[in-house]
Amino acid sequence: MAIDDPSHQGEQDFVLINNSTFFIRDVQGYIDFFPVRKAIQEGKITFNQDGTPNNLPDDLQVQFRAIAYALQLVQKIRARPTSSPLEITYWSATPYRMGNHAIKFSVVPHTIGQSFNPESAIDKSNYLREAMTKHLASKDAYFDFKIQLQTDASKMPIEDPIVAWDEQESPYIKVATIKIPRQDFNTEERKQLDEKQSFSPWHSLLEHQPLGGVNRARKIYIELANIRNKINQGNT
Ligand code: HEM
Repeated sequence: MAIDDPSHQGEQDFVLINNSTFFIRDVQGYIDFFPVRKAIQEGKITFNQDGTPNNLPDDLQVQFRAIAYALQLVQKIRARPTSSPLEITYWSATPYRMGNHAIKFSVVPHTIGQSFNPESAIDKSNYLREAMTKHLASKDAYFDFKIQLQTDASKMPIEDPIVAWDEQESPYIKVATIKIPRQDFNTEERKQLDEKQSFSPWHSLLEHQPLGGVNRARKIYIELANIRNKINQGNT
């Protein structure tokens, strides 16, 4: 195990997002990002039409400049429509070990039949569960699990997850097929089970352990999941 946690021996969680890169370069960037985001949400930072900041509080000047690139990346990621969680591609965004190699991984859906149309949803503001329920009521879902080998340490850095590893240089290779069997997905029992789940890149075999500073910061998931589960238990 990459961490000493007997309750997750032999397990490997694969935590992915719907973008090939992360939106923040390093841990300091993550620390700087949140006060800036909060100030934007509270209207303390506003923007001109060309995207430059209109008013920028003095105490956020340094942080804002340091993470301005991240605001653009977040906007790009959020603007991308998701028809169904079973119909989009996911990426690890950060690197992992595979024996003596570094890899990133990706999960690509098989598109079978018609895509879910969010416009047809009963609740358009919260349609992802409905999309999965409909899909799995009638058919299995399949994804290809692919890995991308790091073939050039400087062009494919471990320490900067906003850099996409060039797919011409190192194409993704399919190593497995994921099958999610047809099922009744939208049950109370299932929802309760989901609430108790916690995933972490550090639920990992040593051979596949997370690499790089951003991934190291993610050891925090385990602690936070414990706190979240305790709060949830208190609320039931
Ligand atoms: C500085 C780096 C990062 C920090 C501090 C961070 C922090 C967190 C925290 C605190 C959670 C909630 C954990 C829980 O309550 O169970 C979380 C969840 C999550 N993070 Fe990150 N994160 C980081 C980087 C990343 C990266 C690079 C990815 C790319 C795959 C990512 C993807 C996710 C996903 C998919 C979840 C939801 C997991 C779930 O459903 O349990 N994060 N993150």
